[in-house]
Amino acid sequence: MSSFNYENGELKIEDINLSEIAKKIKTPFYCYSYNHLKEQYSKLDQSINLADYHICYSIKSNSNQSIIKTFSKLGSGADVVSMGELKRALKAGIPSQKIVFSGIGKSSEEIEFAIKNNILMFNVESIGELKKLSNESSKLNIESQVALRINPDISAGANEKISTGKAQDKFGIDWKNAVESYELASKLPGIKIIGIDVHIGSQINDIEPFRKSFDLLVEIIEILRAKGHQINVLDVGGGLGVKYHPNEIPLNVNDYGALLSEKLGGLGCKIIIEPGRLLTANSAVLITKTLYIKNTESNNFIIVDAAMNDFIRPTLYGAYHEIIPIKENKENNLLDYDIVGPVCESGDFFGKKIKLGKIDEDDLMAIKSVGAYGSVLSSNYNTRASINEILVNNKNFEIIRNRIEDDEIINRDKIPDWV
Ligand SMILES: Cc1ncc(COP(=O)(O)O)c(C=O)c1O
Repeated sequence: MSSFNYENGELKIEDINLSEIAKKIKTPFYCYSYNHLKEQYSKLDQSINLADYHICYSIKSNSNQSIIKTFSKLGSGADVVSMGELKRALKAGIPSQKIVFSGIGKSSEEIEFAIKNNILMFNVESIGELKKLSNESSKLNIESQVALRINPDISAGANEKISTGKAQDKFGIDWKNAVESYELASKLPGIKIIGIDVHIGSQINDIEPFRKSFDLLVEIIEILRAKGHQINVLDVGGGLGVKYHPNEIPLNVNDYGALLSEKLGGLGCKIIIEPGRLLTANSAVLITKTLYIKNTESNNFIIVDAAMNDFIRPTLYGAYHEIIPIKENKENNLLDYDIVGPVCESGDFFGKKIKLGKIDEDDLMAIKSVGAYGSVLSSNYNTRASINEILVNNKNFEIIRNRIEDDEIINRDKIPDWV
């Protein structure tokens, strides 16, 4: 069930009218449904029928402490890609033995911090990183648990910028070099091979690329085991797609769960899944107020108080996001609107040629499906404040991230005496 519905002409999140929240919270703001987050996690969890697995929430999709803690309390682990994310995961109560560290550019400092915090596994993405991890582990007299991230050369996902599993992408070790890389890893001090890892991309609604990647992994695991390597953990990454457009058919989570069992259930491995978007994307709306209506010869613009610095997906990825008014508008006479923000870039838009009934100044609008790769990608471009984030639970709501006002942003700058 959707957590965002019109009732008596008012858009609600769970049991509260968004207009009520907007009376108390300055727009624009992100607004999340706590129960949607929990339902998404449970749906995925229930679709999996494996003897041993961890869902490791991919923190990059939304790293707010309240959101990580929501999943942590449901038993989630974490997939992190920086020391900052690792600190966030630990602070939100995720046990270190449920944390995997991915990413192609881990620094010595980050590696040392992760070793000292006894994480479950490093997903290593290059030979250089393997050697650095070996050095850092040896210095600390520790054996670090390692999976090599294999690049399977599989095309998947909705967008070039979020495809990660093709040969030309910067991620992982070419699958053709997997065996020799494992041979090298097994000889390095401080390295204990425990698994293998793959992540092919994001917003994947078609099950076939997952099938292909699992088939390849099974083949590689057989070869590695025949050579004597201990492959007890298989991290299949994230990438599970969601519905953004009303006509989009999202990945069927139960099909995904069934595929995991069919292809990987007999391997005797702990399976790790790293979903981000699936858990968070549809949990949130961005509430924004109409500042001006500007009709030109060619376009009808709705200029709103949110901007690309608050939510960059439409301009960065050409991503579609449904935009609806908070007061239900049942007019039949629809107009084409371009919904744009105040930032001085033509790329500052949320939607083009969006069909809506008449919109007036001060009307509130909801940009939907902004829970993943939304607030985490925000910036202070044009010296605009960082906006509030709100979490709703039934009839109650709380601020889960405070606004950072422009003065605070300006005061971080320092002026040397000689300027
Ligand atoms: C290694 C890794 N795992 C998991 C994810 C999460 O992907 P998604 O949000 O599509 O599930 C990403 C996203 O880029 C990733 O790079």
